[in-house]
Amino acid sequence: MHLLAIESSCDETAAAVVDDGRKILSSVVASQVEEHKLYGGVVPEIASRRHVESISGVVRQALEEADLSLDQIDAIAVTYAPGLIGALLVGVNFAKGLALAAGKPLVPVHHLRSHIAANYLAHPDLEPPFLALVASGGHSHIIEVKDYTAFHVLGRTRDDAAGEAFDKAARSMGLPYPGGVHMDKVSQHGNADAFHFPHPKVDGAPYDFSFSGLKTSVINMIHNAGQKGEELPLSDLAASFQKAVVDVLCDRVMKAAGDTGAKRIVLAGGVSANSRLRSEMQKLCEQKGLPLFLPPLNLCGDNAAMVGSQGYYEYLAGHLAGPDLNATANMSI
Ligand code: KG4
Ligand code: ZN
Repeated sequence: MHLLAIESSCDETAAAVVDDGRKILSSVVASQVEEHKLYGGVVPEIASRRHVESISGVVRQALEEADLSLDQIDAIAVTYAPGLIGALLVGVNFAKGLALAAGKPLVPVHHLRSHIAANYLAHPDLEPPFLALVASGGHSHIIEVKDYTAFHVLGRTRDDAAGEAFDKAARSMGLPYPGGVHMDKVSQHGNADAFHFPHPKVDGAPYDFSFSGLKTSVINMIHNAGQKGEELPLSDLAASFQKAVVDVLCDRVMKAAGDTGAKRIVLAGGVSANSRLRSEMQKLCEQKGLPLFLPPLNLCGDNAAMVGSQGYYEYLAGHLAGPDLNATANMSI
């Protein structure tokens, strides 16, 4: 089954063609990062406008690279929640128009579900159930994936998402947007034990995260040093901050895995590209004899191939939408 998939929830306009949820025939991503960089973060209004400009070209290119015409597509999948509402609406309306005009079924896909599904594209043997950590710019969730379309959230962030904490802390260090990527690079040359940052826990919620105190503590540290005319060593600071975030993520995931008897662990979302998170999780999972599945780096961030994968399983489950489909900024998985 050929699925055409569309993603526009944040600052990437993406389209892909995916076969039977597992095989990428094409995957096109038009990134707006360079433009948002000027403002230090995603400007929603600009994101929506750029999606409008790019979407038809990106979809056309995805079909061309797959060597398929719209007639040969069996269904159209689109990210409809959660995300920036104006950005989501561009993809949803485009997909609705296309589905209606071409007489194809329309499959609405939840963004976090698709981040998890990125792993199905890279690991043919991966099937639910498993435990997933989804860490992105907007979300940090520990999720029991019971089946392709059945999820149970065990833990979540109480304030900032892990990627958001990386981006805001990186900004205070003078690093460009998207901060997480640059923090990872700068940290390669740093001493992760140079500074100590808090490893906050949430009372009564053993699998929840709280990153805002951690972020504030690095911002204050930089501010206080600046007041004294001191400059802190950037790579040590970044490496120490990264270590604190990764320690917390690993700690909660491993606890959840132990408590629920998870048989395998999956990472997903933009932050799963983080080199320290990948290597630490690898070590911990090896110690426990737990198989760990990581998305390849090109499928960690937002893309439409992952939407095509999850869309296939939503289609099989009969989760279809009509022309009244709306985009939703917030929606639990
Ligand atoms: O999944 P994603 O592309 O978009 C959302 O759905 O939010 O995630 C983007 C987030 C950003 O916060 C970015 O800084 C972070 O993922 N990120 C990283 C790395 N690469 C991307 N954070 C830490 N280390 C990285 N290597
Ligand atoms: Zn995302």
